Amino acid sequence: MDPLTGRVALITGGGSGIGRGTALALAAAGVHVVVADLNAARAEAVAAEVAAVGAQGLGLRLDVNIATDFDRAREALLARFGRIDIVTNNVGVIAAGLPEHIPLAEWERLVSTNLLSVVRSNHTFLPLLLAQGHGHIVNTASTAGLFAYAYERLPYSATKAAVVALSEALALYLRPRGIGVTCLCPGPVATNIGEFVSVSGPPVRRRPPGRGLVPLAPEVVGEQVRRAITRNEFLVLTHPELREVLVGRASDPEAFLAGQLSALAEQE
Ligand SMILES: NC(=O)c1ccc[n+]([C@@H]2O[C@H](COP(=O)([O-])OP(=O)(O)OC[C@H]3O[C@@H](n4cnc5c(N)ncnc54)[C@H](O)[C@@H]3O)[C@@H](O)[C@H]2O)c1
Repeated sequence: MDPLTGRVALITGGGSGIGRGTALALAAAGVHVVVADLNAARAEAVAAEVAAVGAQGLGLRLDVNIATDFDRAREALLARFGRIDIVTNNVGVIAAGLPEHIPLAEWERLVSTNLLSVVRSNHTFLPLLLAQGHGHIVNTASTAGLFAYAYERLPYSATKAAVVALSEALALYLRPRGIGVTCLCPGPVATNIGEFVSVSGPPVRRRPPGRGLVPLAPEVVGEQVRRAITRNEFLVLTHPELREVLVGRASDPEAFLAGQLSALAEQE
């Protein structure tokens, strides 16, 4: 039997893409999944897919910008399942534009949706996980939070870097208390993320994190997340090639920045 069988997971943004892929990978391991999404119809559709795999699914409408939505989700899932073991904070949106064009309101929106969403979730679920002394938190950051490859989505890069930092420090606190933390840093994944891109100022070209990184199917990433939870691993790099990039950046930051500038110049 899979070690996760019978556990209960909540996935924010579970109605599409990586959240849906994670829901299905966990369901295949026997995990009951609460699919929480701004789009209630998508949440319910994925909950039905979870049930079709043989686990139990519950679809909920939840806006990660609203703290009381997390509290309502906690009450709903405790009423249905009586427990919570895995919390996956997966929502992230992109604001694009040149640095001088992205207004403060867009920065505030991304800080709320991409970063404070994790804080709200922690306020709701950490007391439960700490009291029971076991559980796992997965925070979805991005390659954009690990190194700079573009300048046309600063609020996205900055909030994702903050999610990486928050997750790493949280792991220091939670591991000795029996709670695992995983930080998922995807490279390109074929999802609906384009639906949530706002553009300020003239249109800008969106650049990928590196040449030759093949977009993965969200189901593949969901399986990577399931494995990281089972093995209690911290960092998930969806594309193994990214490890080399991180080593290069750490060993010579000046040369790395020069290389990134040349790559951008070649793309102009
Ligand atoms: N797709 C990629 O290439 C890629 C790369 C790196 C990181 N990521 C990250 O992966 C995560 C998932 O993105 P995805 O690519 O699967 O996108 P997606 O658009 O396919 O799925 C995101 C889901 O989040 C939901 N959502 C949006 N705003 C919400 C809100 N305020 N409250 C609740 N739900 C909300 C949407 O309805 C959607 O169902 C994001 O954090 C994203 O930044 C994606």
